[in-house]
Formats: sequence, structure tokens, C-alpha cells
Amino acid sequence: MHLQILFALVAMIALGAASAQEPYCESSCGNVNITFPFGSGEGCYYSSDFLVTCDRSSVVPTPLLRNISNLVISNMSTSMSELEIMMFIARDCYNISGSVRRERPWLRLGDIRISTKNRFVAIGCDTHAYFSGTRGNASDGSGCISTCGSNSLIRNGSCSGVGCCEVAVPDAMSSFEITLSSYYNHTNITDFNPCSYAFFVEEGKFDFSSNNLRDFGSVQKMPMLLDWAIGNTTCDTAREDVDNFLCKENSICDEDYEGPGYRCRCNEGYEGNPYLGCKNIDECQLQNHVCQHECIDTVGNYTCKCRKGYSGDGRKDGTGCTADQSMTIKIAVGSSVAAIFVIVFVNWLYFGLKKRKLMKLREKFFKQNGGIMLQQRISGDGGSHDQVKVFTIEELKTATNNYHESRIIGKGGFGTVYKGVLSDNRTVAIKKSKLPDQTESQIEQFINEVVILSQINHRNVVKLIGCCLETEVPSLVYEFIPNGTLSDHIHNKGKSSAFTWDIRLRIATETAAALSYLHSAASVPIIHRDVKPANILLDDSYVAKVADFGASKLIPMDQIELATMVQGTLGYLDPEYMQTNQLTDKSDVYSFGVVLVELLTGKRALSFDRPEEERNLAMYFLSSLRKGRLFQVLDENLQKNEDLKDIIKVSKLAERCLHVQGDERPTMKEVAMELEGILASKIQKHPWVQHPLNEDEAEYLLKEPTNGYECTDGANGNSSTFDSMSKHTILPIASGR
Ligand SMILES: *[C@@H]1O[C@H](CO)[C@@H](O)[C@H](O)[C@H]1NC(C)=O
Ligand SMILES: *[C@@H]1O[C@H](CO)[C@@H](O)[C@H](O)[C@H]1NC(C)=O
Ligand SMILES: *[C@@H]1O[C@H](CO)[C@@H](O)[C@H](O)[C@H]1NC(C)=O
Ligand SMILES: *[C@@H]1O[C@H](CO)[C@@H](O)[C@H](O)[C@H]1NC(C)=O
Ligand SMILES: *[C@@H]1O[C@H](CO)[C@@H](O)[C@H](O)[C@H]1NC(C)=O
Ligand SMILES: *[C@@H]1O[C@H](CO)[C@@H](O)[C@H](O)[C@H]1NC(C)=O
Ligand SMILES: *[C@@H]1O[C@H](CO)[C@@H](O)[C@H](O)[C@H]1NC(C)=O
Ligand SMILES: *[C@@H]1O[C@H](CO)[C@@H](O)[C@H](O)[C@H]1NC(C)=O
Ligand SMILES: *[C@@H]1O[C@H](CO)[C@@H](O)[C@H](O)[C@H]1NC(C)=O
Ligand SMILES: *[C@@H]1O[C@H](CO)[C@@H](O)[C@H](O)[C@H]1NC(C)=O
Repeated sequence: MHLQILFALVAMIALGAASAQEPYCESSCGNVNITFPFGSGEGCYYSSDFLVTCDRSSVVPTPLLRNISNLVISNMSTSMSELEIMMFIARDCYNISGSVRRERPWLRLGDIRISTKNRFVAIGCDTHAYFSGTRGNASDGSGCISTCGSNSLIRNGSCSGVGCCEVAVPDAMSSFEITLSSYYNHTNITDFNPCSYAFFVEEGKFDFSSNNLRDFGSVQKMPMLLDWAIGNTTCDTAREDVDNFLCKENSICDEDYEGPGYRCRCNEGYEGNPYLGCKNIDECQLQNHVCQHECIDTVGNYTCKCRKGYSGDGRKDGTGCTADQSMTIKIAVGSSVAAIFVIVFVNWLYFGLKKRKLMKLREKFFKQNGGIMLQQRISGDGGSHDQVKVFTIEELKTATNNYHESRIIGKGGFGTVYKGVLSDNRTVAIKKSKLPDQTESQIEQFINEVVILSQINHRNVVKLIGCCLETEVPSLVYEFIPNGTLSDHIHNKGKSSAFTWDIRLRIATETAAALSYLHSAASVPIIHRDVKPANILLDDSYVAKVADFGASKLIPMDQIELATMVQGTLGYLDPEYMQTNQLTDKSDVYSFGVVLVELLTGKRALSFDRPEEERNLAMYFLSSLRKGRLFQVLDENLQKNEDLKDIIKVSKLAERCLHVQGDERPTMKEVAMELEGILASKIQKHPWVQHPLNEDEAEYLLKEPTNGYECTDGANGNSSTFDSMSKHTILPIASGR
């Protein structure tokens, strides 16, 4: 269905420099001011990505980005590195006879990107919407599903999957393509909801109303924010090329965001366009100061002065201005003592009040984030949760050197992850999430997850150490895993050749064991929902640790499936879940199947650099397997491997995990057992590896007959790998009981 993109909105146009140019740089067009790096004449803009043309054919001139007639710029803020455009919305419309009208806008932007200050929103009662695009070399995407099962659940202003759904936009996406589809072709609902809609919209600029289900047809465009980065180098490299460095005087170079390139920002105390040079802000004139008596503007700042006969720093947030004691010294020593007393008292009162205000705020956040509930849950359970620690803001600030930039180890749509060192010298990862405002039930769920996760004690699951509830959005503290993500190791060419089959098989086995444990062994079944190599961390000896439970759901004991808003990562999302909204543990099995395929092929789950039929790795893998062409897709580092039989077994297992029908997929427990079997038979082939087996385990390991394969020697899997492997194999089996 999605092949018929009937509406190709914007074409990537190679702009010739030959067109006629005005000799000056236009400074505005209609209501929009245009400044460098944007511009319209020759030499007025930085690169063709930043070309703006002014279309004067209508009453109000409209600025167009890259001279593309549909790409209308509605606002521009060079100081914020932001650009607002009016972007078409995607729609899929049906009538009673089931015929469709489709409009699917897409955009490729180059140096300009989609700002994370947008949301991706879909409206409809039978609506699957997702977007995909590129972030640097990689592909990314996300999506959501909206249904109206029962109309009574539709709420104005809420996009939580009933009538309307929304997801965050990842950092640094430079293109997008929206795909809309429906499960029942809007059958039976065409009278009140004939269409599905999807669009990117600036946060706060769209408020869902139940009437939109019927009347959104008249809306053509939505405001969408773009931002940009210059070039593909770091600030330091860019600075070396003095002539082409764009950050002009009084500005700083900023590279504190995902993706290549840099941005310029005015220094504090300056304003204007950092790409042209920032100007001093006259804080005194703007009444933007804290002086008690007199304000004197300085370059980049201002100072305060007290009137004659007064002294102090003159700042309302400082000591202020107080009458000079020298004038009154003759009167009495006593009165000056009294004056000092008054000053001290006033200060004490002031700071005391300020401190109390801060404490109040923290208390508010603590309550708002469910701190009370958490405390009750912890204390009510007889201290069995002694692992979960509630941290204060100070502790986390100290641990992360006040959230210093150098401590950032990860960033994304979910928030920022910092590396920190606690007072007891433990290294931790601190995740500051950026959740949207939470409802009561979401808080309860968050607390639930904190409590449950803190109870999980599995060597292949990242351990939650504690949380901090005093900040506006709660922060989570995890154990620190030093060796990066599985995704790095698979896709980084330097690392992937050393990433042998043995290591891959063991990581797969450990991940399966962890997921199986979450599904069945943990006290309340947990569905991870976002299983992918980027969420599997590796420690120094390549032990897999499943991480990021941001999306996970607890499944109440009496339910085997749960209707939820579809969340996850495109390329890993279970197609059945996308169609039905019904979340089951088999959705994780599907995603794990994709992880297996990624381990086998070394290819990304979704890549728009590949030909159409190979874009979705899972589909490509399955079709290759069915055509008997497994070796065409296998990672070249695995091609010469002696363990081909194992590779084939794992491929067959992946095929079963990727079955379209969830019921046909094996459970995570079966997957884990099978992988453990394959791994165990491998150990059997290496009699020199000694490991302490107890009888039970030996029996289990012997159940899988060895095949006639002889492994040569330590040449392609040195003995230390096997050694550590054997250690790792036994434990998951043991803990699975
Ligand atoms: C555009 O520039 C003019 C003059 O420099 C200024 O007065 C006006 O406020 C600007 N408009 C916008 C929308 O920034
Ligand atoms: C913009 O496009 C119009 C028509 O598509 C063309 O006539 C015009 O020369 C273009 N302007 C620039 C600056 O490329
Ligand atoms: C344009 O952007 C500026 C800066 O972000 C903002 O202050 C202003 O309100 C915007 N104007 C409109 C009409 O949205
Ligand atoms: C449905 O739409 C098609 C084409 O858009 C049109 O030919 C047909 O008459 C419509 N059917 C009804 C019942 O409106
Ligand atoms: C992007 O691709 C180029 C060439 O294909 C490669 O040199 C570069 O390392 C890649 N960058 C990342 C971040 O993967
Ligand atoms: C939402 O607001 C509109 C008016 O803006 C109203 O007509 C409609 O009934 C409201 N819907 C719900 C579910 O409250
Ligand atoms: C939806 O429409 C397509 C063609 O437009 C058709 O092939 C498909 O069977 C329809 N599905 C349902 C559930 O009506
Ligand atoms: C549409 O209505 C018919 C008759 O009431 C019903 O049999 C059918 O299941 C409905 N289809 C959907 C998709 O709800
Ligand atoms: C960086 O940009 C330059 C100039 O646009 C280009 O020649 C070079 O290939 C780019 N490098 C990468 C790694 O993308
Ligand atoms: C301005 O001066 C005040 C007081 O001297 C100082 O605290 C502040 O950091 C200065 N601001 C800048 C941007 O330098």
C-alpha cells in the first residue's frame, strides 16, 4: 500500500547557481526577517540548503525554503537556530465504497533538521501512523496507533492513543517520510471519521479536540520547527578554518546535540545573530536587571551602583544598598550594632525564605513524582527493597559534577544519560528523562516500574540502583556498563571483525535469558517493548545487560495481553502488535528475532540506503532464507566460520521468532533454551574447557547431542573467549530455575 506515494511533495532539487540574483541581500520577505546563514542572493546564504526565495506572486510575499513552492517559511529565529515552516499533513481518506485518497508528504533537508521541539501526531479511529527518516548515516523512525474502541475514552487535549496519538521526535533527523495505514479501511466509521491524519507539529501548537476526527479535512498545513547545524565537523576543527568559521564575535560554538556539525549561539549578555556577530544587551535600558538604585551598562554585562550615602553591591539578589554607617557612627555604637543586627536579620530572613521556597518546590516535585507512594511501597514491604535508594538532588549533582557536559554518555528522544560517581565511589549511569507531563496513573506506573525494576536481580539486566524524585522529571540511577551498546559492536566496522560468532551467540543467549526471566520469572511479568541492539549494553567481558525500560509495561497477572498505544522502534516493531494494539510477550520475541538477524547479518534493522525490497531487514532476511540464499545476507565476518551448522540453527530460530502471527512464535523461554542448547553443544566440543558443573546442569547440557563438528583450535575463538563464555553460559541456566 505504501508504495503508492501519490503525493510527492518536495523533491530534492540540485540548485544551480545560474539563476538571476539580486546584488543585495534581502532582509525580509512578508512578515519574516531573513538573515545569514539564510539569504536569497548570490553570496547571501551559506549553502544551497539555506537558500530562501521570496515569492511575490501573492498579496503577502511568502518566503520559500530552497525555492520549493510548498516549503513556506513562517518564522525564523537565527539567534535560537530555529526555523518554522508550514508543513503539509499526511492523510488517508476512505468513503463507503472503500476507495482511498492519499496524501503523504515527505521532506529531505540536508544540513537542516527536524527539531526535537516537535511532536509526531496522528488523528483517527483506525489509524496506524509512522515516520521514518535518516539521522546521519543511520535510519530512524517511530510511530503510533490510534483507535476509538469506545468513544467515551476520547478526551479533548489528550493524545494517548484514543482518537489521537503522539510520539517524540528523535534528535538530528534530516529527512522524513510519513506512512499511514488502517486496519479496517475505516469501515463503519466513515460517517464520523473518514480519514486518518498524521503530521509533525511544534509542541504546544496543536490541541486535540474530538471534533478533529470529523473536521480536520479543512486543515492543510501545520507549523513545524526545524533547526540546523553547519557542516559536518566539530567546533574545534571548524575553528581552525578561520575564513570559513561562522561563529562571529561575542558568540560561542555549540556542538552539544546529536549529529554532525556545529551551531553558533550568542554569549550570555549578548543578543542578535551569532552568524553575523552579537551585540551587547543594554540590560539597564530594557529594565532587565536586578539593581536596587542605579544600573550601569557594561560590555556583555551591567553593574549596579548605590546612591550617595549608601553602600553595598546594589543588587536585589545580593547585599543591596544600605545606608552608610560612617554617617551615623557618631550617634551611638549601639545603634550601629542594631543596624548590623537588622542587616543580618534581613539577610537571614531573605535567604531563609528563598531556601524555603526551594524546599517547597522540591517537595512539590517529590509528591508530584509519586515520592510518597514510593516511600510507602518501600516501607510497606518490610525492607525487601533495600536496593532502591531515593537520592537527593545534591547527591546526583555531586555525582555528575553538576551535570557537566563532559559527563554526557548518551542522548536521545528519551532524555540525557550522564556518567556519575557516587560518594561510595560506585560508577553509575544517571538518566534524566524528558517525559511529558504525567497523569496520576502514569506516576503510579512509574513508581511500579521503579519498585519492580529494583527487585530484578538478574546478571543480564542492568541494575537499577535508585532514583531521584525532587526534580521536575524523575531521574533514574543505574549501574554503569562500560563497553557501549551491542549496536556499536555490530555496526562499527573497527569492532565488528573482532566480534566473533562465539561472542555473538553468547550475547544472544544471555539476552534471551534476561527477556525470558522478565517474561516469566520476575514476580510480575514485564514486557520490555523496545528490544533492540541499542538497548543491550556490554560490559568489559562482553556480558550482555538489557537496559532501558522506559517503555516497558507490567502485565497484571490476570491479563495475558494489554491494549496500549504502540511504542517501539521502527524495524523492530511486531507487525501484529501494530495492527491490533494488543501487547503480548510475543512482541518482544519478534523484536528479539530482529536482534538475532542483526547479529547474523551485521546489517541495520532498517536502512533507507538499501534498495526498497531490502530496507526492512527482517523481511529481507526471511525472503533470502526462503530462497535458500542465507549466505548472501550473512555478515562477511561470519562467512568463513566453522560453526555453520550453529549459524543455520540460529537463523531458523530467528525465522520462527519473526513469524507474523504471535501465536506461532516460540516463547522467550523456548528461545532461551534453544540458544543455551546450541551454546552448550559448542562447549561440549571443547573438552579442554573446564567448568564447575553440578549434576543438574551437566544433565541439561548433555541433552543436546553434539553434532559431528570438530572445532580446530583457539584460532578463531581463543581459549579465553571460551573460558569466559562457559562461565557465562552456566549462570543463566541456573538462574532460570
Ligand atoms: C524584523 O526586523 C525589524 C527591523 O530590524 C524589526 O523591527 C522586526 O521586529 C523584525 N521582525 C521579526 C518578526 O523579528
Ligand atoms: C525559483 O523557482 C522559480 C520557478 O520555479 C524560478 O523561476 C526562479 O528563477 C527560482 N529562483 C531561484 C533563485 O532559483
Ligand atoms: C517567531 O519566533 C520567535 C522566536 O522563537 C517567537 O518569539 C515568536 O513568537 C514567533 N512568532 C510567531 C508569529 O510565531
Ligand atoms: C467514493 O470515492 C470514489 C472516488 O473517490 C467515487 O467514485 C465514489 O463514488 C465514492 N463513493 C461514495 C459512496 O461516495
Ligand atoms: C557514515 O558513512 C561514512 C561513509 O559511508 C563513514 O565514513 C562514516 O564513518 C559514517 N559515520 C557514522 C557516524 O557512522
Ligand atoms: C471537545 O471540545 C469541543 C469544542 O471545542 C466540543 O464540541 C466537544 O464536545 C469536546 N469533546 C469532548 C469529548 O469533550
Ligand atoms: C481495504 O481496502 C483495500 C483496497 O483499497 C482492500 O484490498 C482490502 O481488502 C480492504 N480491507 C478491508 C478490511 O476492507
Ligand atoms: C461493521 O458493521 C458490520 C455490521 O454491523 C459488522 O458485522 C462488522 O464487523 C463491522 N466492521 C468493523 C470493522 O467493525
Ligand atoms: C564533510 O563535508 C565535506 C564538505 O561538504 C565533504 O566533502 C565530506 O565528504 C564530508 N565528510 C563526511 C564524513 O561526511
Ligand atoms: C555579570 O556580572 C555579575 C556580577 O558581577 C556576574 O555574577 C555575572 O556572572 C556576570 N554575567 C556575565 C554574563 O558575565
